[in-house]
Amino acid sequence: MFNPLTTLSDAQALDQSDPLRPVRDRFLIPDGIAYFDGHSLGPPSRAARQIQDDVVRRQWGEQLIGGWNDAGWIDAPQRAGAKIARLIGAKPNEVIVADSTSVNLFKLLIAASRLSDRPAILSEAGDFHTDRYIAKGVARLTGLRLDLVPRPELEQKVGPDTNILYLSHVHYGTAERHDIAAMTARARDAGALAIWDLCHSAGAVPLQLNQDGVELAVGCGYKYLNGGPGAPAFLYVAEHLQERLSSPLQGWMGHAAPFDFTDDYAPAPGIDRFLAGTPPILSMAALEGGIEAFDGVSMDSVWAKSVGLFETFRSLMADRCPDLVCVSPSDQARRGSHISFRHPNAFEICQALIAVGVMGDFRAPDVIRFGLTPLYLRYEDVWTAVERCADIVDSGGWNRPEFSRRRKVT
Ligand SMILES: Cc1ncc(COP(=O)(O)O)c(C=O)c1O
Repeated sequence: MFNPLTTLSDAQALDQSDPLRPVRDRFLIPDGIAYFDGHSLGPPSRAARQIQDDVVRRQWGEQLIGGWNDAGWIDAPQRAGAKIARLIGAKPNEVIVADSTSVNLFKLLIAASRLSDRPAILSEAGDFHTDRYIAKGVARLTGLRLDLVPRPELEQKVGPDTNILYLSHVHYGTAERHDIAAMTARARDAGALAIWDLCHSAGAVPLQLNQDGVELAVGCGYKYLNGGPGAPAFLYVAEHLQERLSSPLQGWMGHAAPFDFTDDYAPAPGIDRFLAGTPPILSMAALEGGIEAFDGVSMDSVWAKSVGLFETFRSLMADRCPDLVCVSPSDQARRGSHISFRHPNAFEICQALIAVGVMGDFRAPDVIRFGLTPLYLRYEDVWTAVERCADIVDSGGWNRPEFSRRRKVT
């Protein structure tokens, strides 16, 4: 059972006994920053810098175009995919890195919907907007209907009309987590396919895609996988479905023989058919370096620390800053790895926190999110965040023109 902390030295004592403490050194984090935005953009890892430097100087610089073969650039999508597979409970040949989450969702929605003539795509209302925009585009292209319902109605809504159920495993705002095994089974029992968006769970919560019967998923590389700004995303297709699906984006990299330059398209065997164009090698290098930060680290140990950070954050905030209301589930099986608070002045408080070195983020209309990233966050950072937040709220320090929403450009 978790014991609430009261002092900075309690937090530092927890850091001393944290088995993941040495892993923080694998990252480049500026001094004086408590970084709670790794659920949006992970920090650079030392390995990312080193691998990217090697790609630019030695591979690209010396081997030039020979790098495609000699440095193994051509295999980067499969190689990075296999590394992600370990973190999400999949086989190495079931994951490939390519494109963005939005594009990968598009590919899977179209590919999967062709397996049946059922008329509807089903999803949750109020989930991350890019998925919904993509699904609306897919609906227009295919003539399918898009049904969006509130979370409590989802299970009951899955039925004979449902062609595809697509869901975010962890909600970007509140961190609520679906039961991935139960919802996948619910879709399967109704004769539908489930597609999961794992953006807020890959590298954050323990996933066992094979064991849980998950057949299709997408996720991004720049959050908990620390792949860098705009890092390529990944796509998972269970082995048994791969030969039955074909990508709607029939690019040469997904061709069975890309260098035969034939007029006809023939999909590559297996997961490779979900590639479209040339992989972005510099970005792939940073992503491979980001994933390397997980070497020797089990997802169970990552999750155990996430739970500790969450409980610490929640109990300190309840004590020191009760005006911010926690909207993330207290049941650890029902949440991801960020903690969100609601406050009418969330935007200004978030800006005031950033100004004093506590970097979380704001999500409209009134939520502050703090990403809990166990590889590099310390209990001391949690203590600092709560103390600074309490100071800002108690003193009204957020109520200054420079923190006002009207000044925000983007
Ligand atoms: C749930 C979810 N899906 C998708 C995305 C973004 O997708 P893309 O990689 O296409 O930018 C995000 C970004 O924050 C997200 O939170």
